[in-house]
Amino acid sequence: MKAITYSRYGPPDVLELEEIEPPVPGEDEVLIHVRAAEATKADCELRSFRFSVKWFWLPLRLAVGVTRPRRRILGDYFSGVVTAVGRRVTRLAVGDEVFGSAGFRRGAYGEYLTVPEKYPVVTKPSNMSFEDAAAVPLGGLNAIHFMRLAGIQPGERVLINGAGGSIGAHAVQIAKAFGAEVTAVDSSIKERMLRRIGADRFIDYTKEHFAARGETYDVVFDMVAGSSYGQCISSLKPRGRYLKGNPRLSDMLRSAWTTRFTDKTVRVAFARETQEALDALKQLIEEGRIVSIVDRAYPMNRAAEAHRRVETEQRAGAIVLAIGEEAAVS
Ligand SMILES: NC(=O)c1ccc[n+]([C@@H]2O[C@H](COP(=O)([O-])OP(=O)(O)OC[C@H]3O[C@@H](n4cnc5c(N)ncnc54)[C@H](OP(=O)(O)O)[C@@H]3O)[C@@H](O)[C@H]2O)c1
Repeated sequence: MKAITYSRYGPPDVLELEEIEPPVPGEDEVLIHVRAAEATKADCELRSFRFSVKWFWLPLRLAVGVTRPRRRILGDYFSGVVTAVGRRVTRLAVGDEVFGSAGFRRGAYGEYLTVPEKYPVVTKPSNMSFEDAAAVPLGGLNAIHFMRLAGIQPGERVLINGAGGSIGAHAVQIAKAFGAEVTAVDSSIKERMLRRIGADRFIDYTKEHFAARGETYDVVFDMVAGSSYGQCISSLKPRGRYLKGNPRLSDMLRSAWTTRFTDKTVRVAFARETQEALDALKQLIEEGRIVSIVDRAYPMNRAAEAHRRVETEQRAGAIVLAIGEEAAVS
């Protein structure tokens, strides 16, 4: 099979298109013919081994390979078709069109992928192409996790910082589906897209800091590494909730204090990815309440270009790799 691989940490050009042996599913696993995979910021961070949050550099390096990557195929989030199932698999069947997450196993940048049946992989929404569906699990699973933690009530004011990213753009749509009034914060090239998917108000972070307006919110959801903890807390109404997806160690310590000694709640939890959450997203998609936002799709032989576009952030939406395609895609 063809796979985009990397054998050393470095710039996008370390990605190579290679012919390798396809994986064989174990008794509890399914074999998936991958049709599309999202090229994510986390993929780029793993490829280059540069992270905006520094504290997990050492534990992560020990986990993924000290001198070179132990797993040579990136890609956590994908869509595809089940082509074989292990003897003990009952939930999925050959021919199912699925989308989901391969988690820490990664491997979705290859034409075939094996995942345990218990992983968050479910049949894909009937009203979505493979490319659109591959752009949902990362943003959708993280966003639904945090938006549920926020306990949003209809009519509440929600601010999403980093709203134009994969996670933020899903959070905008889920918060709207929960009945919130949403303020989206990002750079101006994302404004049109964010208004199209439901943002009621938009603040361009390159021109002003949202906290400087003196407005307060029931929920602040913040996916921006290095943003000011104090400014986010001061933007909360009484009993407001602050959710931080990219916490520094100091944020984690301060969150415990804020939650214990003030009327505000801070959650810094990492998202759990579950089949139930993915099914909930699928339902929201089939009801027309969430759309997938794909900025551009690239064929496999232009993976380095795809990573460059993710890294330069001149995009409005997800970057997708059309797996199996070597000819030009849009
Ligand atoms: N907690 C978890 O479970 C979890 C899970 C997955 C990922 N993450 C982390 O969460 C982060 C976001 O993920 P993502 O995939 O959504 O990233 P992404 O697609 O790159 O989105 C980040 C967005 O934030 C915007 N931004 C940058 N600086 C900003 C600022 N100062 N104020 C407001 N917006 C700003 C970026 O816009 P520009 O174009 O202007 O840069 C971009 O639109 C990543 O660092 C990732 O590693 C956490």
